[in-house]
Amino acid sequence: MKLEVALAVLVCVFAIAIDGCNCKVVQFIFGDSLSDVGNNDKLTKSLARASLPWYGIDFGNGMPNGRFTNGRTVADIIGDKMGLPRPPAFLDPSLSEDVILENGVNYASGGGGILNETGGLFVQRFSLYKQIELFQGTQELIRDQIGTPAAEKFFQESRYVVALGSNDFINNYLMPVYSDSWSYNDQTFISYLMETLQGQLKMLHSLGARKLMVFGLGPMGCIPLQRVLSTSGDCQDRTNKLALSFNQAGSKLLEALSSNLPNASYRFGDAYDVVNSVITNPSQYGFSNADSPCCSFGKIRPALTCIPASTLCKDRSKYVFWDEYHPSDSANELIANELIKKLGFRGVNDPNASTPAPAIAPSPE
Ligand SMILES: *[C@@H]1O[C@H](CO)[C@@H](O)[C@H](O)[C@H]1NC(C)=O
Ligand SMILES: *[C@@H]1O[C@H](CO)[C@@H](O)[C@H](O)[C@H]1NC(C)=O
Ligand SMILES: *[C@@H]1O[C@H](CO)[C@@H](O)[C@H](O)[C@H]1NC(C)=O
Repeated sequence: MKLEVALAVLVCVFAIAIDGCNCKVVQFIFGDSLSDVGNNDKLTKSLARASLPWYGIDFGNGMPNGRFTNGRTVADIIGDKMGLPRPPAFLDPSLSEDVILENGVNYASGGGGILNETGGLFVQRFSLYKQIELFQGTQELIRDQIGTPAAEKFFQESRYVVALGSNDFINNYLMPVYSDSWSYNDQTFISYLMETLQGQLKMLHSLGARKLMVFGLGPMGCIPLQRVLSTSGDCQDRTNKLALSFNQAGSKLLEALSSNLPNASYRFGDAYDVVNSVITNPSQYGFSNADSPCCSFGKIRPALTCIPASTLCKDRSKYVFWDEYHPSDSANELIANELIKKLGFRGVNDPNASTPAPAIAPSPE
């Protein structure tokens, strides 16, 4: 055992000498408001910002921090459980080469989608293509700092999260003001999304991403914003069916990429079923409310998310939804646990971390 440790240290020292390896694994996160940790907060013209109370009330000092929830995001929780540092927002003024090497970067932006045109009504947001462009800029900085061979190694060993898609439906395809809503039908729109995503994931692979996970969609027809579309307040069945189709197609795409791209461990996981089950039977999971936002502006709904004049529910841990769009911290914890189970990964310091994960769980029909 001691010998093994000594050898590991030797190998590491040797690697530093040869490659400038710093032996630190970090994450690069691409996403939308479900993963944003402050980018939109700095996009001052964006109409999708979590910059006012009561966002962040259960996080750190309780002040708004750019997250679109009361506490942690799903990516926060998964990263914590994997033993990875939480990457700062790309637009965080403290971001420097050293910070990137220690913590990675989060490019996620509220309102962003797989498609460039998604979320146009929010004026400012980073689409996935834009986020990848920013990542290319980050790579240049790191190459200048530690040299090309070490940078290559660093980016190949990093973990990647890609979590977008709901805005491509909610703030594009399902909104008649966007031309995609009349240019496509359900099937051709999903194909368009998958072709675009495939190009983006291949691009990330060409930039060095080897260990990557894509988060699928939840039952987005059940977010409070969708429920108020009908007088009955029921979930929007068509929207949920779109999420299921997206997940099915995404799961297939990732399976294909993982076997076709060299050295790629690309995985897809969604928490659709468990969230659907919580929504059907909240009390069984310790929730008391699964259909309205904890932070809401009285009866005027959908209010523009959650604002200082809003009232909060009594027990934030018992609400599935924090605002009209976004799950609460406790729902995010449940979603994160489900994704960990589905994706079958382990902590980066776990001795079994490099063993192959179980086959991808079949996507829901
Ligand atoms: C999407 O935007 C990127 C820049 O962020 C641009 O390079 C690319 O050509 C655009 N793609 C399409 C299909 O418009
Ligand atoms: C795949 O991994 C092998 C072994 O580590 C390496 O020699 C090869 O260059 C890698 N290929 C790519 C495309 O990353
Ligand atoms: C590692 O894998 C072995 C064999 O599959 C198993 O017995 C052991 O419990 C695992 N350890 C951890 C920490 O998961």
